[in-house]
Amino acid sequence: MNLRESVKRYYGERISKGEGCCDPSPAALAPSFGCGEPTKFAELKPGERVLDLGSGAGLDCFRAAKAVGNKGYVIGVDMTPEMLKRAKQGAQKLSLHNVEFREGFIEDLPVAAASIDVVISNCVINLSTEKPKVFSEIHRILKPGGHLIVSDILRNGPGLTVIQEAAWCACEDGAEPAETYKQHLQTAGFAAISIDPAAPEVMAGDTYSALIHAAKP
Ligand SMILES: C[S@@+](CC[C@H](N)C(=O)[O-])C[C@H]1O[C@@H](n2cnc3c(N)ncnc32)[C@H](O)[C@@H]1O
Repeated sequence: MNLRESVKRYYGERISKGEGCCDPSPAALAPSFGCGEPTKFAELKPGERVLDLGSGAGLDCFRAAKAVGNKGYVIGVDMTPEMLKRAKQGAQKLSLHNVEFREGFIEDLPVAAASIDVVISNCVINLSTEKPKVFSEIHRILKPGGHLIVSDILRNGPGLTVIQEAAWCACEDGAEPAETYKQHLQTAGFAAISIDPAAPEVMAGDTYSALIHAAKP
């Protein structure tokens, strides 16, 4: 089972089946597949360079592009061509010139080292089968003093031993416990790690949405 190919196919099909929209607002142009709103908490400043991992149809990039302004720049990376196509169309319709979408894997980012101020991501890292690689790539491309703010799905309790393809694609079976997530970040070299909520109010074994923050010293 090649889970990355399954995930690509799953999201390609989902965006292709989506309804077209005439409402010119960013939310209508770019359907969300997220589990939070990282841009709301990222405290983005004018002029910053932002990278969105798994940018999907582009909604968080559009929000970030507005926040960093014309002197800032936003890059969205996604592996699914149908998502990239929709994101590029959205940027064009919104006349955004400070946002770019690149095809690539979050485990091997097509982004220069130490070139990004803030990494955001919305419901994507749980889908990776190589999470330690993702965090070391984030560390590589962030400038010293840069930070990440990520919405993702975590699991309350131990990780799963048996994985189902459909549940992985639906952001369930790839979800890891907060402690494992924190270890990946520490191993990659991050500091000031916080995971909210610290004590999720879900049953043992269940998944929940969390906001993760960490800084590159
Ligand atoms: C649940 S959707 C979230 C999309 C977007 N962040 C949002 O909030 O709407 C997951 C997205 O991550 C992308 N993705 C998943 N695994 C990836 C990987 N290993 N490398 C690059 N993109 C990936 C998928 O193509 C899909 O667009």
